[in-house]
Amino acid sequence: MSKALHIVILAAGEGTRMKSSLPKVLQTVGGRPMLLHLLDSADALDPEQVHVVIGSGADRVREACSEYKVNWVIQSQRQGTGHAVKQAMPAIPDDARVLVLLGDHPLIPVSVLSEMTGQDTAPLSVLTIELDKPRGYGRIERDRTGRISGVVEDRDATPAQWKIREVNTGIILADAVHLRRWLDKLGCDNIKNEYYLTDIFAMAHSEKREIHGVLAPDPRDLQGVNDHRQLAALEQRFRHHAAQQLMDQGVHIIDPERVDIRGPVTAGRDVCVDINVVLEGRNQLGDGVFIGPGAVLKNCDLAAGTRVHPHSVLEGVSTTGPCDIGPFARLRPGTVLAAGTRVGNFVEVKNARLGEGSKASHLSYIGDTIIGTGVNIGAGTITCNYDGASKHQTIIEDDVFVGSNTQLVAPVTVGKGATIGAGSTITKDVPGDTLTVSRARQTSIKGWQRPRKKEV
Ligand code: UD1
Ligand code: CA
Repeated sequence: MSKALHIVILAAGEGTRMKSSLPKVLQTVGGRPMLLHLLDSADALDPEQVHVVIGSGADRVREACSEYKVNWVIQSQRQGTGHAVKQAMPAIPDDARVLVLLGDHPLIPVSVLSEMTGQDTAPLSVLTIELDKPRGYGRIERDRTGRISGVVEDRDATPAQWKIREVNTGIILADAVHLRRWLDKLGCDNIKNEYYLTDIFAMAHSEKREIHGVLAPDPRDLQGVNDHRQLAALEQRFRHHAAQQLMDQGVHIIDPERVDIRGPVTAGRDVCVDINVVLEGRNQLGDGVFIGPGAVLKNCDLAAGTRVHPHSVLEGVSTTGPCDIGPFARLRPGTVLAAGTRVGNFVEVKNARLGEGSKASHLSYIGDTIIGTGVNIGAGTITCNYDGASKHQTIIEDDVFVGSNTQLVAPVTVGKGATIGAGSTITKDVPGDTLTVSRARQTSIKGWQRPRKKEV
């Protein structure tokens, strides 16, 4: 029987090189903290237990991962990767295998990890990559027969060792019984005075134990994040994969290098996503949905035929039929648009429903409102939903025509078929099928002279 798999994720570092107040493993890739990507990958391997070593910002890290079942291990003093793994060992039995993952390598494909854990051979394995610029990584040393004989850290390496292009990804698989022994023997006689996990390779080699090196063919997803340049490089990889997946679902992405997908998207047929679109959270796009350039969508459910025109920002929006949004619309949570609706430029909608065929084409604020079918909201209409203390509702029944520059002071109801004259401030309910105007009558004064500047 194969040995139980325990996964140890090292996440106690501060990430000094990020120059950020955020614990490094909470820096995001694709809108998600790096550590969550790793926890997903770890879960996919179906391990006996996942141990996460934390230290810097421990409370924030734990809180961010509250949905995961994890054995939290506190490393109160940051004394190196070897010291960090050692803190998790008391919870791991001798007959287990331990897979060490680094919190700052968030995008390792599960396929690469399962290939490594699927082989039951050597007591110690390491995932390596070859880099043209190996700066910062531990270099893989090999003996004359080509076997791995040790790992030397960048900062402790000689100029000759710096030239080695094969590096340690930090992903290590070891038999617990040996790992425990090796960790107990670690010293900290190096430039950083830290207990390096990587010193176990020389120990295993001197014991003549087999070390299995797995050289990954493509290093791009396996690289680590020590600074913002490397973070941006991984973000680019994430973006690339997310776009590929959507294209495989049949989505027409105009330029996969210029779309950011930061969360799951389900898409129907003939969906088109134009350039510079950002999709955050969970989004569902029905058949034929078009997302115009520069649009940002978060947690939206758009029915077939919905067209989002350029530079619109949508969060928590659902549409129930084909409709037009934007350009430059801002739709906030609780917006529900029925078939044939149109929300045009510079219109903000929050917690409001627009019934079939209703339109707010320009420059309006519609908040806490229920709008029936066939309603026309004129330019500059504002629902005054907030009195400084509470929010109030506006109800606009079917076939209402609201003239431009109208203020509807909520709570207020506008009855079916009513017309409101432009420039009105509506403070009382409007009866159906009437014309309601609340502006002062227009007067013209004949012969009136505009003041003139005195000539000198
Ligand atoms: C480490 C490896 C190096 C490898 C590289 C891959 C060591 C000594 N070096 O170097 O061989 O090429 O990763 O990116 O292992 N951490 C703790 N507690 C500690 C120290 C670190 O939890 O006391 C965590 C950090 O949060 C981080 C990870 O371990 O997630 C790696 O630490 P880091 O300092 O980034 O190691 P590198 O110098 O990058
Ligand atoms: Ca690192």
